[in-house]
Amino acid sequence: MISPIVSVSHEGAAPGTHSLVEALEGGAVLKFSDLDFPLSPFEERFVERPFADGKAKNVNIRGKDAALRGAAGTTEEQEALRQLLIRYRAFAEALINRHLPAYRGKVTFAGTSYRPFEVDRRKLSWRRDDTRLHVDAFPSNPIGEKRILRIFRNINSEGQPRLWRVGEDFASMAQKFVPGLPGYSPLSARLLAALKITKARRSEYDHLMLHLHDALKQDMAYQANAPQADVQFAPGETWVTFSDLVMHGAMGGRYMLEQTAYLAVVDQVEPKQSPQRILARTLGRPLR
Ligand SMILES: [Fe+2]
Repeated sequence: MISPIVSVSHEGAAPGTHSLVEALEGGAVLKFSDLDFPLSPFEERFVERPFADGKAKNVNIRGKDAALRGAAGTTEEQEALRQLLIRYRAFAEALINRHLPAYRGKVTFAGTSYRPFEVDRRKLSWRRDDTRLHVDAFPSNPIGEKRILRIFRNINSEGQPRLWRVGEDFASMAQKFVPGLPGYSPLSARLLAALKITKARRSEYDHLMLHLHDALKQDMAYQANAPQADVQFAPGETWVTFSDLVMHGAMGGRYMLEQTAYLAVVDQVEPKQSPQRILARTLGRPLR
């Protein structure tokens, strides 16, 4: 099954949708077309040209003090961009509280990013090429029993859509790829943590997700022939998905805001829908 796109109006779920959380945990992308996030006249400049130093893929704020990284512009402009990202984080939190109330108070907000650049199709290595279908996995930051929930918004001012591909459901993908993945070594996981290559011990789940990410991106026959669909997100649209569960590729578009949030597997409405539990079922045993 290809991941569905579920449109949500201001009032809530589209008719026939049981609940938004159920759809989201089942692998849908929720698309909100009529949420307001207006930019001030001063902020318009951030969608007219990129305020980025060009060294990283995007500009972001992190941590309690929301320190801005990767930005360009005057001190005043950088502070305004930082405030814009802080406001977007509050927008993402309000969206969760209103439309996904089961997660209220349970999600942790991580990085907030401003992505002014066109999706890069050529210069990157295959591993960093996000036009290839993949699920998100963070190499240096083990995730363990957490989920990656992402809230995106297209803020393009010239009518340019954000183009995505979505792929087949996680369980079907896992059945094809898990048997070919290298085995997990608790010893080397402890070594990577001791050498500070990873920020915490890499669990078997983290190991599997990293190798899945790479195996998917390297398999050009799968990239071309796997079940998939093109999706467009117009300027002003917001979309929400578990990017560790939903197979996706970013094919084009520039000027986007993105919020990353973490949710513990046990705080899901249906923990058995998590990639952690799906992988355990694929292997026929609990993960280590
Ligand atoms: Fe991704």
